[in-house]
Amino acid sequence: MGAIKTGEEREIFYSPTKIIFGLGAIKDLPNECKQLGKKPLIVTDSFMSKTEIVKDIMEILKSAGMEPGLYDGVVPEPPLESVDNGVKVALEGNYDVIVGVGGGSSMDTAKGVAIVTGNGGKVLDYVGMDQVPKPGLPKILIPTTAGTGSEVTRVFVVTDLNDNTKKVVYSAYNLSNVALIDPALTLGMPPSVTADTGMDALVHAIETYVAITATQFSDPFAEKAIRLISKYLPIATIKGENIEARYYMALAATLAGLAFASGGLGAVHALAYPLGTEYHMSHGRSNAIMLPYVMEYNLPGNFEKYAKIAEFMGEKVDNLSDSDAAIKSVEAVKRLQKNVGIPSRLRDYNIKKEDLSKLVEGGMKQARLFVPNPRNLSKEDVEKIYEMAY
Ligand SMILES: [Fe+2]
Repeated sequence: MGAIKTGEEREIFYSPTKIIFGLGAIKDLPNECKQLGKKPLIVTDSFMSKTEIVKDIMEILKSAGMEPGLYDGVVPEPPLESVDNGVKVALEGNYDVIVGVGGGSSMDTAKGVAIVTGNGGKVLDYVGMDQVPKPGLPKILIPTTAGTGSEVTRVFVVTDLNDNTKKVVYSAYNLSNVALIDPALTLGMPPSVTADTGMDALVHAIETYVAITATQFSDPFAEKAIRLISKYLPIATIKGENIEARYYMALAATLAGLAFASGGLGAVHALAYPLGTEYHMSHGRSNAIMLPYVMEYNLPGNFEKYAKIAEFMGEKVDNLSDSDAAIKSVEAVKRLQKNVGIPSRLRDYNIKKEDLSKLVEGGMKQARLFVPNPRNLSKEDVEKIYEMAY
């Protein structure tokens, strides 16, 4: 049982208005679109826009008598311009419903386009907590990876290239009207992307589960996600056409998204962040690398929950004390990494030992994410974790 909330603490749970999940669910899109507007704008990246996925989406919307538009200017780690350019397209074409298709960058950009088109101004005007006055355009979010969870969260992140920082917009208006998840859309993901994005979902579930901000709502979603990912990620990675594995990975990523949307994240995302900015590592890969080392350091902060994670991941924990069982959760994560082909040490990525101080500096800038972490982290602690990871 989680802690009782008293005083100023509350159990809060955010979710989209509607979640549609299932193989072939993409064919529900025209009907959902028509309930929200007349003219949909697809927001995606230039790679996705050439795939059958986006071509099919355009086709089914046209067959239903709609005139969909396409904005494929999304780039990874989307800069402010990526959103503001999409807003221009939406305004010029009088589009009234936004359909985000792709990974986290496409769905985040779609959220931004919907908010800024409906509220006016520029994306920078809405950075921070609850700075968005009105709902903006309605939106449907369609993930094509199984990891980010952006389809069910109330957050989007953009990069301000002026000072190379991430700007975050938190607002309940970022929640999608419809999160449409069709696991068939993830079938074409290559093994390394499957592994990286799947590990990102695992990090979401584990970080939320052990966070001091975890709630009675986030725990069951996190638990189910951890169970599904440890069972299905290896198969989805090495046998990508396995429908069952893709189905449950898509489900797990959405459940993990629902969990962290309300329960918060922690030090893994904080310490992974500089690996992305300094070494251009993907979000999922950098998080995957840091996960076991942060877990190991965090263990004393919540032996009981780490012991549970070991159990969810299939470890034998009968007759073990919580502290002994907790260690097995770290072993389970390392084994999973190995099974999906992710080298787990920083030295495996041509990172020099003398560069660790840069990582420490970058990690400390994300200290806001240390607040929900089950163990307080000083600069010395952060140094130790990167050394362990090296
Ligand atoms: Fe993440």
